[in-house]
Amino acid sequence: MELTIGVDVGGTKIAAGVVDADGRILERLRVPTPETVDEIDASIAEAVEQLRASESGGSVAAVGVAAAGFVNEHRTTVRFAPNIAWREHELADAVGKRVQLPVIVENDANAAAWAEFRFGAGRDATDVVTVTVGTGVGGGIVLDGKLIRGAFGMAAEIGHMRVVPNGRACGCGQTGCWEQYASGRALARSAFELAIRDPKAAAPLIEAAGGKIDGLVGSMITEVALAGDPAAIGLFAELGRWLGEGVAALANVLDPAVVVIGGGVAEVGDLLLEPARKAFNHHLSAGANRPHLQLRGAEMGNDAGIIGAADLARTR
Ligand code: BGC
Ligand code: NA
Ligand code: ZN
Repeated sequence: MELTIGVDVGGTKIAAGVVDADGRILERLRVPTPETVDEIDASIAEAVEQLRASESGGSVAAVGVAAAGFVNEHRTTVRFAPNIAWREHELADAVGKRVQLPVIVENDANAAAWAEFRFGAGRDATDVVTVTVGTGVGGGIVLDGKLIRGAFGMAAEIGHMRVVPNGRACGCGQTGCWEQYASGRALARSAFELAIRDPKAAAPLIEAAGGKIDGLVGSMITEVALAGDPAAIGLFAELGRWLGEGVAALANVLDPAVVVIGGGVAEVGDLLLEPARKAFNHHLSAGANRPHLQLRGAEMGNDAGIIGAADLARTR
């Protein structure tokens, strides 16, 4: 059976694994993402070499790299990344030279979407959109069983749909993008603002952050929400509303049967999904006269990028 390696490169960590044709990870490792573009290339290559040297890594045929940015249609170059320093970076070449294996680069959210479609929450459907909520908001579109990349590779950059005229500035150079309101970073920002505005209501959140409110991150808010704190639950409800509203807009363009919500914040489950479903139903155009898609939580968790990139490298 052909094995491939998937490498998921995010803003904070690089996670990699040897993956089989059933989407199982046989061997894995994880390192922090270094600062510079060169160091990132080197870290990816090193991760690949370490995995190849492992017990299950001997027969690896190709590498798929999931990158959090705008990837070109040839799956070789990251043209731009809002949250990492890549600009016109020939990532496939840089890694391929070092490891002497075929390398493809895929947008991280496309890779995650492919994993959910093949092995996860969308495996029973042919038309699936996955929204990955992390530092930014990423998207992956599978229609009729096919991953849609667009003419230039940049389809499904849904995080940069404009949802607020003249709204918050975005790393992409525009303002009012969806990811400025519906990402994990936006959630943390809302928590921060609440802590300033109403420290009494935000007391459990402030405590979870050890008193340092600018250190409030998604996982802390999740923990406090799951413990039943109304303020934290309210923050997820607000995030859910932004998500549901955006998904309603996407339904008009793509008409999927299933929309999967993934990324770290989705781990909070129905506290996010229920408000999202409600907002979706409320904002869907002609909603009384059409079938409603199913909004589901992701099933592949943090492994989606690795597994999706590896699987896409298999069919390179
Ligand atoms: C980027 C996407 C990426 C997403 C999730 C966005 O800011 O534009 O390319 O998929 O974040 O990482
Ligand atoms: Na994408
Ligand atoms: Zn943007």
